[in-house]
Amino acid sequence: LPPKYFYDERGSELFERITRLPEYYQTRTELRVLRDIAPGVVRRHGVADLVELGSGSSRKTSVLLDAMREARTLRRYVPFDVCPEAVLAAAGRLRGEYPALDLHGVAGDFDHHLGGVPEPDGDGRRLVAFLGGTIGNLEPGARVPFLRSVAGLLGPGDILLVGTDLAGDPARIRRAYDDAEGVTAQFNLNVLRVLNRELDGDFDLDAFAHVALYDPGPPWIEMRLRSTRDQTVRLGALDLEVEFARGEEMRTEISCKFTRPMVEEMYARAGLELVEWHEDPRGWFGVSVARSAA
Ligand code: AVJ
Repeated sequence: LPPKYFYDERGSELFERITRLPEYYQTRTELRVLRDIAPGVVRRHGVADLVELGSGSSRKTSVLLDAMREARTLRRYVPFDVCPEAVLAAAGRLRGEYPALDLHGVAGDFDHHLGGVPEPDGDGRRLVAFLGGTIGNLEPGARVPFLRSVAGLLGPGDILLVGTDLAGDPARIRRAYDDAEGVTAQFNLNVLRVLNRELDGDFDLDAFAHVALYDPGPPWIEMRLRSTRDQTVRLGALDLEVEFARGEEMRTEISCKFTRPMVEEMYARAGLELVEWHEDPRGWFGVSVARSAA
């Protein structure tokens, strides 16, 4: 199942809770890197226009907006997310915090609605941010085409800022997707609620169990839902019946872990070039800056 289906209003709220879990190191680690680098990135590249893909609650965004305000370049913020409630909530909060900011929210998905991002206005540079490691949720074959379409949003002098979760200790990484409190399990199971609602389904959420598996090959985390009994599920809107054997699993998400060479290669294949690489002292999370290759 494409991971975008996790993010209805409830799913976006559950993801917010995940970002505060002790096991989920990614959000706070990335935030620390961003705090360190935001003023320099904004100053070096003269950023006036911030487009954020997969903006969610826009909680980390303030670090970038503050740096832009500090540099007196702040003009516009375009939060783009698949969850309309999240875009509206973030825009409502930011309107109060940055009264001079031109806010233009877009609710849509990366495959169909990047065209909804407004043209840059004025002479300031644009920064397109893709944070949180969300690029790791794309299928390997989809990343380069996606980055190519994102490169279409960049003019001369504009930059792309990407957060990537880094390969490392499998046990630590796996725990981030199987927390003790069970919030990630609820988040994973929420996709079945979405299917029940949107496709007139009859998934019994008590008959599926959360699975998080570390696959060293790619390397990535796979989230799956495992059927706890033999069962038949009906999706009325598709006129489809699906049989699950006890123990049978369906994949609901991949979350790829990267190395710097992997990121550089991905950029090169998308017509981009890496211009800055930053990571936290423990090497758990990377933030890179890229631009269109000459
Ligand atoms: C959307 C990329 C930030 O893959 O780590 C969190 C989604 N899934 N826990 C990730 C997620 C399960 C998350 N990102």
